[in-house]
Amino acid sequence: MLADGYALRPLSIDDAGPLADAAERNRDHLRPWEPARPESFFTEEGQREVVEGRLRQVELGLFDSWVLWHGTDVVGAATLQNIVRGAMLGADVGYWVDHAHLRRGLAVASLEHLVQRGHDLGLHRLGASTMVANLPSQSVLQRCGFEEIGRIPSFLYLDGDWRDSILFNLVLHDGPPRS
Ligand SMILES: CC(C)(COP(=O)(O)OP(=O)(O)OC[C@H]1O[C@@H](n2cnc3c(N)ncnc32)[C@H](O)[C@@H]1OP(=O)(O)O)[C@@H](O)C(=O)NCCC(=O)NCCS
Repeated sequence: MLADGYALRPLSIDDAGPLADAAERNRDHLRPWEPARPESFFTEEGQREVVEGRLRQVELGLFDSWVLWHGTDVVGAATLQNIVRGAMLGADVGYWVDHAHLRRGLAVASLEHLVQRGHDLGLHRLGASTMVANLPSQSVLQRCGFEEIGRIPSFLYLDGDWRDSILFNLVLHDGPPRS
């Protein structure tokens, strides 16, 4: 459950300004864990393009995108990405929390929300990958019941190099895919 004063809301085109402010405030905090960002990423105009692209993915059923708010500030995000149907019926999770709001259970609450969304969408499993050095994120996944399934070398190009990652898995249900 989210701490008092925080709310998760679906991504909206109106979020571009607060998202740009959050990206700027969290440049250093997120740099080690995210792909390199162009300068436009830190502007409202640039974020508008990012959000428009993301909302198209949401419409296609490929993403389920949530923004974490504290008052009028964006302080995080939580996303089901790469949603696939058919025999795989899964998605990958992604999340971050503002550097000034850490250790309040917000990442765990955001990931619990994504797990619930996975159930709502009838998905079979959720996956996650974290850089080997990202111990906080690994704790968050374990707290939410994700199981470590192995290590994959040179998995993602982050912070200037190909990084080994640890993969996690959570099976939501073992029933047949619903039609
Ligand atoms: C990883 C991240 C999302 C954690 O956010 P958070 O809101 O601080 O996490 P929570 O408060 O829900 O933490 C839950 C537990 O994770 C562990 N944890 C979180 N941050 C930790 C840290 N810096 N060191 C050690 N353990 C940590 C603790 O066990 C914590 O519980 P506790 O506070 O009761 O001890 C945040 O640090 C972040 O945004 N990092 C950069 C982006 C990122 O790594 N995203 C995930 C990519 S896979």
